[in-house]
Amino acid sequence: MPASADVFHEGNVTSVIDPVHQEQVPALIWTRRLASKRHTTRLGHIIGHCVEGGDVIAITGEVGVGKTVLVRGIAEGAGVDPLQVSSPTFTLIQVYRGRVPMVHVDVYRLNTPAEVQTIGLEEYWSQHTVVVIEWAEKILPFLPSDRLDVLLESKGSCRRLATLRAYGPRSKQLLYRIQKQLSLGETATE
Ligand SMILES: Nc1ncnc2c1ncn2[C@@H]1O[C@H](COP(=O)(O)OP(=O)(O)OP(=O)(O)O)[C@@H](O)[C@H]1O
Ligand SMILES: [Mg+2]
Repeated sequence: MPASADVFHEGNVTSVIDPVHQEQVPALIWTRRLASKRHTTRLGHIIGHCVEGGDVIAITGEVGVGKTVLVRGIAEGAGVDPLQVSSPTFTLIQVYRGRVPMVHVDVYRLNTPAEVQTIGLEEYWSQHTVVVIEWAEKILPFLPSDRLDVLLESKGSCRRLATLRAYGPRSKQLLYRIQKQLSLGETATE
């Protein structure tokens, strides 16, 4: 990645506690208001367009905040038929075929974090697969340290706030690509 990427990040890098490893780390943080479902989908499309095999996206947020809408957008952006995407309530894990293989995990029904070991998630930590996790806060100790966290918060019934945090070199590059893609889209629609 060219040096300009680092310049682009200036001012965005903040020292935070990594919730997994409880260490102070320099995370790249970026927030975006999502005025409607369409904006959540659009952010998903951009993330999906930018993902590469090996990326891990950990989505957190209250019931009904829009996590699955975002995942559907990510899938579509990654070349998956979005109609394939549902909350994997009973299966926990769904695998989609797109530009890159994408694994969608919804761990809402796990009762203890340790139960994650029974679903074989570690099989998917590979260079070839994108892993997107809903309710990631339930399995934080099992997540890789270099991941993109996406927190969705409700700001009234018809809008949301997305906060994206990248903790390592791979996820920082992903967030950089997302920011760039979004700014290109905004320029094009001005
Ligand atoms: N930016 C937004 N503004 C307003 N409503 C939104 C926005 N994004 C998504 N929604 C709405 O949020 C609702 C819930 O979406 P979704 O099912 O994706 O939530 P979820 O977080 O996956 O829920 P669960 O916790 O049950 O899995 C949908 O009705 C959707 O239209
Ligand atoms: Mg959901």
